[in-house]
Amino acid sequence: MKERELAAIVLAAGLGTRMKSKRAKVLHELAGAPIIARSLRPMLAIGARPVVVVVGHQAAEVEAAARANADTPLAFALQPELRGTGDSARHGLAALPDDFAGDVLIGYGDMPMVTAETLAAFHQAHRESGAALSFISVHLSDPGAYGRVVRDETGRVRAIVEARDATDEERAIDEINTGFYCADMQFLRSAVNELKPDNAQREYYLTDIVMIARGRGLPVNAWIAGNPAEFAGVNSREELAHMEREIREQVNRRLMAAGVTLIDPATAYISDQAEIASDVIIGPNVQILGRCRIGEGVQIDGTAWLKDVEIGPRCHLKIGVRAEDCRIGEESEIGPFANLRAGTDLEGHNRIGNFVETKKARIGRGTKASHLSYLGDAVIGRDTNVGCGVITVNYDGYEKHETRIGDRCMVGCDTQLVAPVTVGSDVYVASGTTIVREVADGALVMSHHPQREKPGWVKTWRERHGDPTPVNGSATDAKPR
Ligand code: UD1
Ligand code: CA
Repeated sequence: MKERELAAIVLAAGLGTRMKSKRAKVLHELAGAPIIARSLRPMLAIGARPVVVVVGHQAAEVEAAARANADTPLAFALQPELRGTGDSARHGLAALPDDFAGDVLIGYGDMPMVTAETLAAFHQAHRESGAALSFISVHLSDPGAYGRVVRDETGRVRAIVEARDATDEERAIDEINTGFYCADMQFLRSAVNELKPDNAQREYYLTDIVMIARGRGLPVNAWIAGNPAEFAGVNSREELAHMEREIREQVNRRLMAAGVTLIDPATAYISDQAEIASDVIIGPNVQILGRCRIGEGVQIDGTAWLKDVEIGPRCHLKIGVRAEDCRIGEESEIGPFANLRAGTDLEGHNRIGNFVETKKARIGRGTKASHLSYLGDAVIGRDTNVGCGVITVNYDGYEKHETRIGDRCMVGCDTQLVAPVTVGSDVYVASGTTIVREVADGALVMSHHPQREKPGWVKTWRERHGDPTPVNGSATDAKPR
């Protein structure tokens, strides 16, 4: 069969009153991404172009959230008044190019669990059935407020009837409309123009295009999907939390099947966008958010918060690592209690130890900062040792400045580097140095204050305070202070 063009429309103009929120429902986040982003993903994944998002409530915010989460350009249509799903679809169709002549897939923006595989199968079934209009239905033991699929004596679909407009007999039907439709452009354009708000809500119902097709003697196909869970809509906070857990469990199962150890899956919060290689061990209470990539054999001991981080093979993250928007090269050892902020780039074989904070820091292979440091706006070479308590003084109150340190340096404990400043390679910085000027390759640099000593000073000091504690002997005859 010849490939026909496929476009998609996602209806997302509503508020979602049952969320009891000032924010549009599709802006609420589910497993790290706004609901609208998840609803768009399968449409984009099956290659629908363009994908039009119909916005209305908080239009600008919904548009921004959709754009920020799609790799492909999207089109937007504004529904100025919320007059129902049929009216929304009409605005979406008007945003498609005039000469577009292919199929259009229409879905609702509050359905974040649908997979690309299901939509692709639905589209293919639509093409093969020769129906003028197809939609996805499922059987539910509790059909609740969903639209019911009403069939005639011969089993052919006659209409979709909203629960509020249904007779008792119709309400007893357990086959419901999921809200995904596929039809060709011409049919849809003419059908949405025929919709009338003759119903309980005085709205233009998209579902009425079924009756319109049948009225014209055109075949309608209800494609019954196998997994109703995919078509759960988010309508309340409780449903949102339930879905969050559902997605998390799916991700964890997939990862474990692919060779990742989760010490406690119940406390592993891993984004479905994460790529994690085999033989990675993830301890308890770990959040892996956004688009993390974790290489083979990495060990994460526990209590970690990682977002958009690339971690090379065989790294070891000890307890309490927070890292965002950074790269940790292979076989590095991080933590315990390290904070790697945006722009940290560790080349590999690095050690970033306890209470070390890095930001916009490019650190060469083998370089270590093992204790209590701040390395911000820094470029450090290879095999340099950054001693305990080293600080890049990068901020003058107005601007940030860069510190550069070369290869194979020994930066002594408690050194401050007042940026902008450059330290060459093979430099030995004595402990307690304040570096304010460029240091040449191979130099020893120090800024020690001369050490002064006053013999016997403590004895005089204690006597002045009436303290009889002797200075050298035992403390047994001392009064408790
Ligand atoms: C709709 C269907 C129902 C189906 C159910 C599946 C209709 C009339 N009913 O009901 O048959 O079982 O979905 O979840 O279509 N929207 C707009 N503009 C509007 C109104 C809604 O863009 O004027 C958008 C909403 O943002 C939402 C989607 O359309 O994303 C569905 O609207 P909603 O009000 O949730 O429809 P349901 O009552 O759930
Ligand atoms: Ca809904």
